[in-house]
Amino acid sequence: MPLLNSNPHQQCRWHAYPATAELEQAALQAILHAARQAISLRGTFHIVLAGGTTPRRVYELLRKADADWAAWHIYFGDERCLPPDHAERNSRMAALAWLDHAAIPSSQIHPIPAERGAGIAANIYAQTLAGIGLFDLVLLGLGEDGHTASLFPGHDLGNTPGAPAAIAVPDAPKPPPQRVSLSAQRLSAARQVMFLVTDAAKQQAINDWRKGVNIPAAAIAPVSGVDIYLENGLLDHR
Ligand code: 6PG
Repeated sequence: MPLLNSNPHQQCRWHAYPATAELEQAALQAILHAARQAISLRGTFHIVLAGGTTPRRVYELLRKADADWAAWHIYFGDERCLPPDHAERNSRMAALAWLDHAAIPSSQIHPIPAERGAGIAANIYAQTLAGIGLFDLVLLGLGEDGHTASLFPGHDLGNTPGAPAAIAVPDAPKPPPQRVSLSAQRLSAARQVMFLVTDAAKQQAINDWRKGVNIPAAAIAPVSGVDIYLENGLLDHR
């Protein structure tokens, strides 16, 4: 399956909720729906997980959900260059909250080997992704500066055709500095992309995004557009 080029212009659908708990439930149902749809059509569900702290509760809700876990294939949108069991690893957060307790075959969970160093890990992960085609669903967070995954303002976003699937980030402004990120191009090669944003500290990034400022999150432009799940307050404030 050739990877579809991302749209030059990102189409955004804003889904606002009065409270975090409602947003998390809506996100859970959207993820489970996407999985059922993918599995019924193709027999598998390829999902990219967001890092940071925002998605933790959704992962805990997935732990208790009923799904055809044997058909789920787990990838990560980015990873910090830390030991695999380090508390700050995105893969560790997802494992504790969900993956260690789900009946997903371990061979279908693909952490980024960031402990091997950003450059080596980016090359290895690009190979891991080589035969995957379009992701069924990509989950992403949003940083206060408008970053997403480990794609930061003023840094290489990997948003040109031919960009590698995974890029090494040697100097991230959000610690730790050494990271690996899927490129904007690869994150855009998805049937569906969902951003989860719940923290008032993201207000400026949301305002910039809605004004059309080219924050890194705006570089994620799948053909089907992106769905941003956020709290009412973030949508109403200017
Ligand atoms: C990371 C994440 C990063 C995160 C945002 C939001 O490794 O730090 O991938 O992109 O999603 O920084 O982080 P919070 O959810 O903790 O606010």
